[in-house]
Amino acid sequence: MVLEGIGIAALAGWLLDACGDGADLPPATTSTCSGGTCIDLTDAANATLTQVGGTMAFDADGDTILVARTSATEVIALSAVCTHAGCIVDYSATTGNVECECHGSEFATDGSVLRGPADRPLKMYAATLSGTTITITT
Ligand code: FES
Repeated sequence: MVLEGIGIAALAGWLLDACGDGADLPPATTSTCSGGTCIDLTDAANATLTQVGGTMAFDADGDTILVARTSATEVIALSAVCTHAGCIVDYSATTGNVECECHGSEFATDGSVLRGPADRPLKMYAATLSGTTITITT
């Protein structure tokens, strides 16, 4: 009886993971700056974004915003909230696109839909990398 209970709890946990709320992006440490929101890459907490392919997120402007280092000199910032059903999306350095693990939607780095079921683009935010600072217009 107890084992059955554990089995059901494990199954429920697995189902939550499988149908959960998407990617688990590490939170970026941000500050308010003249351009909007800044991410200091000298802060060890943001080390993920010093590597090409690194992806982090932060909350601002009533949104959760994904920031990804797409090359040595470029970053992108998009809403991390999938327009299909609200899961958190993730940037794939392998494909160079933004993917949603919940139901397979895929977006270009400009937020446009490459594959459904999502049928609306992700909101794009202007993002620049200058020296060791990423600035996102929020
Ligand atoms: Fe992203 Fe369904 S929530 S594809």
